[in-house]
Amino acid sequence: MSSAFLFHLERSLTMLTNTHILLGISGGIAAYKSAELIRLFKKNGADVRVVMTRNATQFITPLTIKALSGETTYIDLFDASADNGMDHINLARWADIFIIAPASANMIAKMNHGLADDLLSTLYLAATCPIYLAPAMNQAMWSKTITQNNIASLKHQGVLTIGPEQGSQACGETGFGRMSEPLVICQHLIDHFASLSSSQHNSLANIKVLISAGPTREALDPVRYITNRSSGKMGYAIAEAAIKAGAEVTLVSGPVTLAAPDNCTLVSVESAADMHVAVISRAHDHNIYIGAAAVADYSPTLVNPTKIKKHSDSTSIILNKTKDILADLTQLDAHPFTVGFAAETNNLSDYALDKLTTKKLDMIAANVVGGAIGGFDSDVNALHVFWGSGEQFFPMTHKRILAEQLIELIAIRYKSTL
Ligand code: PMT
Repeated sequence: MSSAFLFHLERSLTMLTNTHILLGISGGIAAYKSAELIRLFKKNGADVRVVMTRNATQFITPLTIKALSGETTYIDLFDASADNGMDHINLARWADIFIIAPASANMIAKMNHGLADDLLSTLYLAATCPIYLAPAMNQAMWSKTITQNNIASLKHQGVLTIGPEQGSQACGETGFGRMSEPLVICQHLIDHFASLSSSQHNSLANIKVLISAGPTREALDPVRYITNRSSGKMGYAIAEAAIKAGAEVTLVSGPVTLAAPDNCTLVSVESAADMHVAVISRAHDHNIYIGAAAVADYSPTLVNPTKIKKHSDSTSIILNKTKDILADLTQLDAHPFTVGFAAETNNLSDYALDKLTTKKLDMIAANVVGGAIGGFDSDVNALHVFWGSGEQFFPMTHKRILAEQLIELIAIRYKSTL
């Protein structure tokens, strides 16, 4: 890398103020570059916490990391001195972004296979924020099919990568596998936060947004219900993105285990009928409605007042169609700009376009569900968004990032109708 380029990067570094960066260091000679990375993050105003693997401590001492970050260096999964003995949960909740640099071949393989035998790999499973990897390893290890498959699979699951670069390596060989320079990595994170903040530049200031999220539960009797696999992650991420864009948000949520974002009005509901009332009664007071909830299409005709007994070998339930919230909303005289979702296992575009037309929507965000990744109860997703005159595809990424992208598009489309 030329010194002019480095100079440009050094000059172009802007603030990471108010960001919480969780840095993971796995075992590899490039771990020595992590010291410089911490210095750059701190210089730009970030709060940095660092997790090392035991192998990483062979290359750089926890004391050096502690001195640079000004924080405890986290190494052990089971640390009795941690607040609640659960550093993996505390750190995962704290982080705005999680970067593993260097990411060794072993760490990449563990991540892809869900192994969690140390604090760093456990954190990967616990983290819900965007995750970046800066791989570093010998060029033959990098080009090995299994490593490439692991990286491709992680990317498919929404993990973002920086590098590796080509060049001479500590082992004396030349090829791809060098960890990207700390300045380059730092610039990636700065760009990441800058793109979030530019997409948050009050594009929805003074706009009231009503969002539905999560599943509904349709009671069969006092103890049983029919539901679906929605976790609420997509809808809650959209609520968070809309709040960041300056909107006043009302979140109508089915039963989920997520905490509602700060600064939104939460309306908790259970059934499709409850959600219908909650949305329709608030529609007149909102500019935009985004229907990310997985609302039951059918509900039991009768709710048995007592627990249904196990008398016969087979039984059947009669279901009635629920009221369609989106379709009823767009029938209202003054209805908000309405964005529906389409969750499909097949024929995504055809079914989505059909819903766009028949429900008279302004936009529809279509996602594939029921596959290996994305859709229901996943941290990542991809969306194909359609509106009257156009379409945009957002590839598989973390739902938080996807939500920012979707909100930005909705803001543009909504404003074009004013
Ligand atoms: O919650 P996650 O685990 O993060 O998963 C996200 C998601 C897959 C649930 C989300 O991205 C999504 O696709 N939400 C819509 C799910 C759905 O019910 O899709 P649908 O194609 O069956 O319905 C189409 C649209 O009609 C949806 O906007 C739905 O909210 C709406 N609808 C459906 C039935 C009904 N009675 N009233 C409605 O308004």
